[in-house]
Parts: sequence; structure tokens; C-alpha cells
Amino acid sequence: MSDHLMNTYAALPVAFERGEGAWLWDENGKRYLDAISGLGVCALGHAHPEVTAVISEQAATLLHTANLVRIPWQEELADRLAGVTGMDRVFVANSGTEAIECALKITRILGHERGLDNPGVIVMENSFHGRTLAALSATGSRKAQAGFEPLVSGFVRAPFGDAAAIQKIAQGSNEVAAILVEPIQGEAGIRVPQPGYLESLRSMCDQQGWLLIFDEIQSGLCRTGKWYAHQHEQVIPDILTTAKALANGFPIGACVARGAAAEAFTPGRHGSTFGGNPLASRTACTVLDIMQSQDLPGQAARTGEHVFKGFRSRLKDDSRVKDIRGRGLMIGIEMDCDVNQLKFDALEKGLLLNITRNNVIRLLPPLIIDEAQADQIVDAVCSLIESLD
Ligand SMILES: Cc1ncc(COP(=O)(O)O)c(C=O)c1O
Repeated sequence: MSDHLMNTYAALPVAFERGEGAWLWDENGKRYLDAISGLGVCALGHAHPEVTAVISEQAATLLHTANLVRIPWQEELADRLAGVTGMDRVFVANSGTEAIECALKITRILGHERGLDNPGVIVMENSFHGRTLAALSATGSRKAQAGFEPLVSGFVRAPFGDAAAIQKIAQGSNEVAAILVEPIQGEAGIRVPQPGYLESLRSMCDQQGWLLIFDEIQSGLCRTGKWYAHQHEQVIPDILTTAKALANGFPIGACVARGAAAEAFTPGRHGSTFGGNPLASRTACTVLDIMQSQDLPGQAARTGEHVFKGFRSRLKDDSRVKDIRGRGLMIGIEMDCDVNQLKFDALEKGLLLNITRNNVIRLLPPLIIDEAQADQIVDAVCSLIESLD
């Protein structure tokens, strides 16, 4: 590792030279099956020919103009995102955490318009929303926040999945402006709330005049078998954040809003130099086209069902497995012990996976994996679990 890189990542001892579909090759030509897709980013797999072609063509045509002028590809992307979410307007940023910043700024604007001096946001324990100061302050991890105080104020924390706890907060405070929640918590170890939870948050927000913000940065874009995970529940948020798979690896994020939240900004109130430039926007349009034409939500749902069936049947008698949970191809296997060593063992066997919370095996494979690759992931992960001491 270079001594000149800041010490922010505990990188695995491997570097990849190229990828194709769900496969990666390291510098020595060894092949790996990718069960994490760059943390849920390369949903269409590596080196997707149409994505590669559109990036090459746009790079040779026009990379960047800044938002000083109209950007037709950004307008096209906004139309397409509005189409798949049923929302009204889009702000295009460069990452997930910036999409969260945009959502929080909209909340502050509308909160002040409602007459609140310090508009607050109810956030969840164990949530993850990103690394900028406001997103970090919203994040429910003391470990991630430690040492970065003073944090941004205005966040009130509730246990994830507990609507009654939020009712209590509502009774004790009249400074709340929004609820921010991941419909399925990712970093927390793929936690799916009980059916009806998101609906009860929606009705509380309607009663109280709060905004409902869904962070779908990890759970969105077909990952769970729908375009967005909240669509399993027929609940519509006021604001939705999306990023990761949106351009299959080209950096981009977006904040999507409807109703009053969509109209909060006026020119000059928010912006980004790179956000929504022609290259990022056109790439995202192509990714959305491919997802739509291949029915990627349906494909992820079917492959996910097959994978869950495989895990449940093979691991049913293993007492060290506490839970197998998730939706579509957003999968967590909770173990009763620290399994960090598994990611190194997996690497040796030619499989790339992730461990979160020390005891949850997290799998976010490319959504284009076929049944044989899905079986290979199930077989490799189960063998690794079986070989645990
Ligand atoms: C739910 C959620 N929100 C926000 C983020 C931050 O996104 P980014 O790393 O693109 O800033 C992540 C990243 O993992 C995430 O999973």
C-alpha cells in the first residue's frame, strides 16, 4: 500500500485488473466470483458492453459543462427517475452522501417555512447515511461518529422498526420536520422491518406534517426485486435518495422529491460543480434503460428467491447461523460469532464477499448473475460457514 494514501480503508490484500459480468481477475490472472459488486454498485456486472460504449462515446463527445448551462442528458435522467419512482423532481449529485445532504437541506427549508426554529429529523439506531458531517450525524453509529464532534445538531434517534417509539418522540417535541429511514438497513446487517412499519411511518408523517425520507442508496435500483425497496409496501416517500448502482460504477447520486419537497429550492440555494454532468447523466440513463429492458427487478426477485432457498436448505441445521434475511439480492447471514476471517478465506477460494457488524455475511452480487453463478455463491458461502472452527 502506498504511504501517501490517507489511512481510511482496511483493504483486502488483492487488486483487480479487469472484470466481466460477475467475474473479476487479479494481477496474477486468478479469477474471483464477485458477490459484493463494489458494495452494491455494479448491478449490471463489470465491463457491461453497452455501459462501456456509452461512456466511451460521451467521453469523446462532451464530458462536462457545469450547471451554468442546460444539460439535456441530466433532464432526460430526471424524467426517467421520476418515471421509476413516481416522484416529481430530481437533484443530481455525485454520491450517496451528497444525496442525503440535499434531502436534509430540503427538510431544513420546509421546516423553517413551517415556522420551526430548529427543524429536527428522526433517524434510526444502527442506520448508515454517509460520511459528510450532516450524513454522519444522521448515522446511527457512535463508532463512526466518535472523534468528529461537534456533530450537526437536530437529529433525534429511535430504534429501527419501532413505530411506537416515534409516536412518543412526536408527543415530546414540536420541532420535528422529517423521518429519515432506510427501508432495509444495509450496513446494520441487512435488517428488514416488519410489514406495515413503513406504512405506519407514512401515516404518522401525514398526521404530523412531517416529511418522510427513504434512503434507498443501498436498497434501491432493483436490488430487492422492485425498483425501490419501499415499493414492496405501496408507500410513497416525500424524498428518496438513490446512488450506488445508478451509473453502474460511474460516480453519481440523486435526491428525488415530490410535492412541496420538490419545490423547496430556488436557483442558487443548492448545487454541485460536477453533479449531473453529461457523462454521468447519460451513463445513468443507459443503466436505467438496461434495467428496464431486462426487467432487472423481476430477475433480481427470481434469482434472490433461488439463493434464499439454497441457503435455507443447506444451513437449516447449522446452530451457528442465527438468521438468513433480506430481499431479492440484498442478503445477510447472521452468525453467532465474529466471522471477519471469512472474507480472507473466501478470497483464497476465489469469492469476494463482505462482513458487516463483525458477524453478518453480507452479499450484494451483481443482479445479472445466472442460476449457475447463484448456486456457486451459495455453495462457496455454505462451505466457508461449514469450515468455521
Ligand atoms: C444506506 C446508505 N446511505 C448512504 C450511503 C453513502 O453513500 P456514498 O458512499 O455513495 O456516499 C451508503 C453507502 O454505503 C448507504 O449504504
